[in-house]
This record gives sequence, structure tokens and C-alpha cells, in this order.
Amino acid sequence: MSDFFTIEWQDGAVVMLDQRLLPTREVYRTYRDYRGVARAIKEMVIRGAPAIGVAAAMGIALGARQLKKIDRPEEFDRLCQVFAATRPTAVNLFWAIERMRAVYTRTRAQGREALCAHLEHAARKLRDEDIAANRRLGRYGTTLIPQGATVLTHCNAGALATAGYGTALGVIRAAWEQGKKITVVVPETRPFLQGARLTAWELMKDCIPVTLITDNMVGHFMQKGQIDCVVVGTDRTAANGDVANKIGTYTTAVLAARHQVPFYVAAPTSSIDLTCATGALIPIEERAAREVTHVLRQQIAPTGIRVANPAFDVTPHELVSAIVTEKGIARDPFGQTLVQLVKGGQKEKGEKAKREKGEEGW
Ligand code: MRU
Repeated sequence: MSDFFTIEWQDGAVVMLDQRLLPTREVYRTYRDYRGVARAIKEMVIRGAPAIGVAAAMGIALGARQLKKIDRPEEFDRLCQVFAATRPTAVNLFWAIERMRAVYTRTRAQGREALCAHLEHAARKLRDEDIAANRRLGRYGTTLIPQGATVLTHCNAGALATAGYGTALGVIRAAWEQGKKITVVVPETRPFLQGARLTAWELMKDCIPVTLITDNMVGHFMQKGQIDCVVVGTDRTAANGDVANKIGTYTTAVLAARHQVPFYVAAPTSSIDLTCATGALIPIEERAAREVTHVLRQQIAPTGIRVANPAFDVTPHELVSAIVTEKGIARDPFGQTLVQLVKGGQKEKGEKAKREKGEEGW
């Protein structure tokens, strides 16, 4: 059980851990104005696909209280637009906005108080559902992790990237909780350093053995046979199984294929976009040049240098060994298996028993 939280609704405000300051400072920020929440998503106070979905939902619940005319759909639309404009790649954000829009449409006739209460309830529910989904996903994923394996993950798809427990780190946590003596290798993840700052911090807090490497060491360790499998998260997985995730994921997948290392993607169904046929259609966020020219506050490149900074890349489905969701595990042909999972789902053995043991309360 970790001693931090990523995002919570507390006394009519949204509270989140400022991830820009980790690992050296643990500071929680409180937002009472929806514009602050939108800025926090843009500026990476909170990041990670499921986490920004929850933040947007809570931001919309806050914003609804600030609307002048609650019964005007155009006003509610403008509020949703503020969140839709924060970050383009993670589909969870848009998925969460659509869920909130549906609640608005269903309950707006009930008046301001009831509507705001419904929106708040929906946002909190979305958070709880995310944690429960990650736990289920983790249990499916752990079947892929051998006893004693060295697992490489990229970026941070952990508790910090979700409402809790994590997706890729959920698989790793579940394996650890089952007593598998695993070790995790985490590349630092330039330019924003989610691996070094966040994943290393999270895993150390849970006492899961972790080794930090730089991004350009991945090939070396695979060539030496020191990586048994890769598990990463995703910001958006297309209907054909192409996976958009943090920049550098594609490079890792190519290396994994070259060295016959299984490459797994932990993808809650909220991050699967069946309306997006292939990865080529996924919008890739371009972030500020300063993230590349500077490491933290230190300038490391000449002033005025031209910079490219795509935040994500797309791994083609041929390089993906399996996609783990909270409803089961999909394998090629992903075009069929993903639809089956998103719309139906496999039965998880012993799931009811585990729920009864209270394991959902991360
Ligand atoms: O730019 P970020 O830090 O929001 O990118 C996060 C990632 O790429 C994660 O791997 C992805 O969102 C999955 S999180 C469960």
C-alpha cells in the first residue's frame, strides 16, 4: 500500500500531487477553479493517460459549479473544450470528457444542485473505476511475467499516471504481490525524465528492486540477454493494435523484436480507441523546445538551436506480443481481439473471490 495519492476530490476541491517536483519534494496542490486543473494537465503537474482523464472529469465537475447558466449546453461545451485542448494524444482524456457530457445531458433538467452533485459523483466514480480496472489488468498481466524475470518498463505507467496502482506498473506490482522475485529496469525517459523521477521513486517506495539506466542503454542490456520482457503503458491504442506511448517506446519495441524479448502493452480499455483505425491517425503532441535544451533548470544546448520534441511515438502492432486490458489479454489479430475485449471481455479466474477478499481498495 503506497503512502501517496495522485489525485483526489476533497471537500469540493481537486487535490493532486505535483509530479514536476518529484522525487525530491512531495507537494500536494489544491484546485478550486477548473482553469487551474486544466493548466495543471497542460503543465504536467499531473500526467499519464488515465490520470489526466480523471483530472479532466474532476475539473469539469468543478467548472460546472462556476457556470453562469447551467442549462445552456453551449456553456457546458465550452467548459469541455478547455479540457479537450490541454493534451491531444491520450484518448482517456476525451473518453472522460464524453462520460461527463453524457451525465450532463442526462441530468441537466434536474437543476443546478442535482446536476453538480451528479457530475461530482461521476468524476469520483471514474477515479475509483480506474483503480479497480488497473488491479484487474495487473492480475491478467502477471500471468505473462515469469518467476525471477527482469522486466523493462519505459516512462511512468504507474500509480502516478493513473488514479492508483498503475497499468504497466500494475502488472509489475501484481507480479511482486504474488511473490514473483522480479527486478525492474527503467530507462530515464528523456526529456521529461518520467522513468528516473517517477517510476524509480514509485518502485522504491514499494521496495520493488529497480535499476535505472539511460535511454541509450536499452539495446546493450537486451543484447546481453539481461531483459526477459518489456511492459509499457499506452496513451492511445488504435483498433489495429498500433500503440502510441511515450517517445522511445518504438525504439524499445524494435530492439525487443531484434532480441526476441516479448513486448507487452498494458492498456485499460479507456485507452483503446476503436474509432482510430491505425496509429498513423493518432495525433502526436509536440512539446516545448525547452524540455530538450534543458535538463531540469540546466541549459545543455546552444541558445537558439532548432529543436524537435514529439512527446509520443507509435509502435506498430506487429511488434506487440500482447495487449493486456482489465477485461483480458488480446493477441494478434488485434483488429478482432481488441473489439471482442472492449465490447465483451474474458472471465478472470477467481476474480469474485479476490474482490471478496477486499483487494480492490488500493
Ligand atoms: O507525457 P506523459 O508523462 O503524460 O506520458 C505518459 C505515458 O506515455 C504513459 O506511458 C502513458 O500515459 C500510459 S500511463 C498508464
